[in-house]
Amino acid sequence: MNRARTAVLISGRGSNMAALLDAAADPAFPAAISLVLSNRADAAGLERARAAGVATAAVESRGFRGDRAGFEAAMQAVLEEHAIELVLLAGFLRVLTEGFVRRWQGRMLNIHPSLLPAFPGLDTHERALAAGVRLHGCTVHLVSPGLDEGPILAQAAVPVLPGDDADSLAARVLQQEHRIYPAALRWLAEGRVGPDGRLRDAPCPDPAAALRNPPDGP
Ligand code: GRF
Repeated sequence: MNRARTAVLISGRGSNMAALLDAAADPAFPAAISLVLSNRADAAGLERARAAGVATAAVESRGFRGDRAGFEAAMQAVLEEHAIELVLLAGFLRVLTEGFVRRWQGRMLNIHPSLLPAFPGLDTHERALAAGVRLHGCTVHLVSPGLDEGPILAQAAVPVLPGDDADSLAARVLQQEHRIYPAALRWLAEGRVGPDGRLRDAPCPDPAAALRNPPDGP
């Protein structure tokens, strides 16, 4: 099988990266994680990737202050060196230019810790709690030039429980991130994702299977 050569871009701990590595450890998985690339040489996830025997690289964004195009050209060179076909942003804390995004359009995914289009940007769990929402969650989307925009591939919702703080809510959402990101990579690598983010051959979900919070009473 020709597995899609995939790069995971990180800035920090890399738990989503680890979930992707776990999924791709199965030789039947249609994508191989061929590179983990970070904009910080000290990102904890790099060590984890090396331990798993995956090629890693760091292009320090600090070295390119005010020169986003130069930073991205350096990243692009590393991606080409590794013959990368798909790019997955996983806690990658740099905003990308329109030029870079267009270059990877349809081949670059992001995971965001909210049910987009609610709560784009940072501090999503704090903002969800402050807004009093009853359902929160995560989204995998194709990357387009606007921040946390782009056609949605997958979402998962979790309840917001009484007594939640940002950490407990983040942990509940993160479990779902680790579930839906590998699934979305599988679909993309299998060539099943349309330009609108929808699966070309998706079975229709059961319309009665809504998630409610609070659930119906006895
Ligand atoms: C995740 O919550 C992801 O949704 C967001 O940044 C966080 C990264 O966490 N974009 P990790 O580095 O994957 O553990």
